[in-house]
Amino acid sequence: MNWGAIDRYAKSLIKEAGHKIRISFFSKIDVDSKAEANDLVTNIDRDIERFFISRIKGDFPDHRIFGEEGFGDEIESLEGIIWMLDPIDGTMNFIHQKRNFAISLGIYVNGIGMLGYIYDVINDDFYHAVKDEGAYFNDERLPMLENTPLSEAIIGVNASWVAPNRRIENAPIAEMVRNCRGTRSYGSAAIELAYVSSGRIDAYLSLRLSPWDIAGGMVIAQEVGAVTTNLKGEQPHLLGQDTFIVARPGLHDEILRNYIKLK
Ligand code: IPD
Ligand code: CA
Ligand code: CA
Repeated sequence: MNWGAIDRYAKSLIKEAGHKIRISFFSKIDVDSKAEANDLVTNIDRDIERFFISRIKGDFPDHRIFGEEGFGDEIESLEGIIWMLDPIDGTMNFIHQKRNFAISLGIYVNGIGMLGYIYDVINDDFYHAVKDEGAYFNDERLPMLENTPLSEAIIGVNASWVAPNRRIENAPIAEMVRNCRGTRSYGSAAIELAYVSSGRIDAYLSLRLSPWDIAGGMVIAQEVGAVTTNLKGEQPHLLGQDTFIVARPGLHDEILRNYIKLK
């Protein structure tokens, strides 16, 4: 497989999709909700996913596509080459803020991430990595991450998990929030993965993410030495929803050991 050629192809497709998203702001955006009232989707999420699928299927007919909006393939195994795509990660931000959303794409072979991309469309910030060849922010190589103690770390965590909830004991999370330097929540898992990878925050955790939220970002994060697991410390599930944490190496252990108690 010529990964250099696929890398160039994927980058140009993502840039073209980003341009389509930017010009979508000049037309009316239709908003629907999915299973839950705050799980939003727009005609643009769907159009962008269809754009990727028509191109990829035309040029790589034997590759499969696992896309959030469901226009791709039914994926029940990780065999072969799979493009894991979130056409807009952070749809609520896309609708309400017109910023803090990203295109997220990971290209996997038999479950192993080979290429990863996160494109913060509004800032024109492009994060990408090729397995074993390093990660980049625009054209700048990202340095390897070193450990940071929790007391000096900024943690990406959504306030939902600090309040009582049915997935995780919230008292230890509140303790983590008290013991760290600060917290942030950007509302796009892909952007939070990009920020951990580029050292802007030190860890990010979530109780429920889908494969397309993390697939691209995991390739990037692993290239800079960040640790990516679910909250049990296992490999995240890439065929369905799972918990998730990405963090600097020692910090990952410190958080899992002292602050995570799943229900
Ligand atoms: C969502 C965002 C959000 C995360 C949600 C995801 P979407 O993706 O990544 O930050 O907390 O769990 O579903 O729906 O905007 O693509
Ligand atoms: Ca998403
Ligand atoms: Ca999405």
